Amino acid sequence: MKVLVVGGGGREHALSWKISQSPKVSQVFVAPGNGGTELEPKLTNVSIEADDIDGLARFALDENINLTIIGPEDPLVNGITNKFKDLGLKCFGPSKEASKLEGSKEFMKDFLQANKIPTAQYETFTESDKAIEYVKKGSLPIVIKADGLAAGKGVIIAFTVEEAIEAIKNCLESKIFGQAGKRIVIEEYLEGEEASFIVITDGVTAIPFASSQDHKARDDMDLGPNTGGMGAYSPAPIVDDYIHDKIMQEVIYPTLMGLKKAGHLYCGFLYAGMMIDKNNDLKVLEFNCRFGDPETQPIMMRLKSDLADLCDKACDSNLQNEELTWDEKKSIGVVMASRGYPFEYEKNKLIGQIPDETENLKVFHAGTKIEDNKLKSNGGRVLCVTALGDSVEIAQQNAYDAISLIDWEDAYYRKDIGHRAIKRERNESN
Ligand code: AMP
Ligand code: GLY
Repeated sequence: MKVLVVGGGGREHALSWKISQSPKVSQVFVAPGNGGTELEPKLTNVSIEADDIDGLARFALDENINLTIIGPEDPLVNGITNKFKDLGLKCFGPSKEASKLEGSKEFMKDFLQANKIPTAQYETFTESDKAIEYVKKGSLPIVIKADGLAAGKGVIIAFTVEEAIEAIKNCLESKIFGQAGKRIVIEEYLEGEEASFIVITDGVTAIPFASSQDHKARDDMDLGPNTGGMGAYSPAPIVDDYIHDKIMQEVIYPTLMGLKKAGHLYCGFLYAGMMIDKNNDLKVLEFNCRFGDPETQPIMMRLKSDLADLCDKACDSNLQNEELTWDEKKSIGVVMASRGYPFEYEKNKLIGQIPDETENLKVFHAGTKIEDNKLKSNGGRVLCVTALGDSVEIAQQNAYDAISLIDWEDAYYRKDIGHRAIKRERNESN
């Protein structure tokens, strides 16, 4: 099988690395890939951007690609799967219609409500006067979300009415998120612990991946601005068997059935961002129509099953007899970012020797490139140092030991990835 993986981040490095381990796969192309995928002996970078749907389709036809797997949300929301299907090409990822679960918060919230799937109370607005009136009457904090895709930046948690008004005006009047923010969802603030719950599905059968939790805040103790994710670990202890079953029954299956009824069978990875409160009640914060980044990196380190085969079977609506097997070890991925991220940062900084891959360690690349045979930074999130260990604490130690060997003076990273799980581990062993 010849496989094309679309995307160039840490998620795509981890997905393509895993896919290339399949005995059924003869060749893996990554478009556009990054410095890490360029250095992998079993991967070949192709210089086509992830949003160039026509270019990707042409490449898949010319190269007789048997299976294309889409990493990021933009091409999915813009209909890459629909286009590939029209051309008779097998493409793993939800259709344009099903991807609206991520592409439009309003669609997602209305869908959840219509299908009685638990989520925060909300209202949708296009006019700032009405939105401001609403927040003045509501309680604080309150959450303001741009309707469309905003590269992870479109959610503002306002702790005062003034902050809420500023966020509303920024979206609806100053249009800082462009078209994505011409409509906003305002929703109730939820307390609890977050977990990422990701499944692979053919639209009817859903097989959950190991649970995970990411750290969205930039700084230690979960402080500072929100980012795409500064690190993640798997499993997330909050998702015990009870919560796991509850998410499957209350969220995943009703979602797939609701979409099927609407004529949009969902094939792909489905990511439910969950908030779980102290009474074990859960609510959906968000859906993503793709794998998480950086959750992919620690999850792929633990996955023993053949991911390429599973994606292929999902495209054939044939997941019903499949299951996933896991390395029992815990896994942690620590993101090394360019200093300044998620705001202004410099690129083209030299990165020294990367520790070799071992059974317990893999450094996945995101914003890197190879220039004149040298590895250089090329984005905000640059590396994800991912390690396994018998406990989250040992996995964390292994990851930070590896980080200490990487010579890159511009690096910024959190020092406490996995802190909640480690605290639980320590409490349990006392
Ligand atoms: P989203 O993209 O909708 O998941 O939002 C990004 C992040 O904002 C989430 O991972 C949460 O940390 C936070 N968030 C979103 N919605 C809420 C909410 N209703 N209550 C509390 N935090 C939220
Ligand atoms: N790590 C969160 C996301 O991929 O959206």
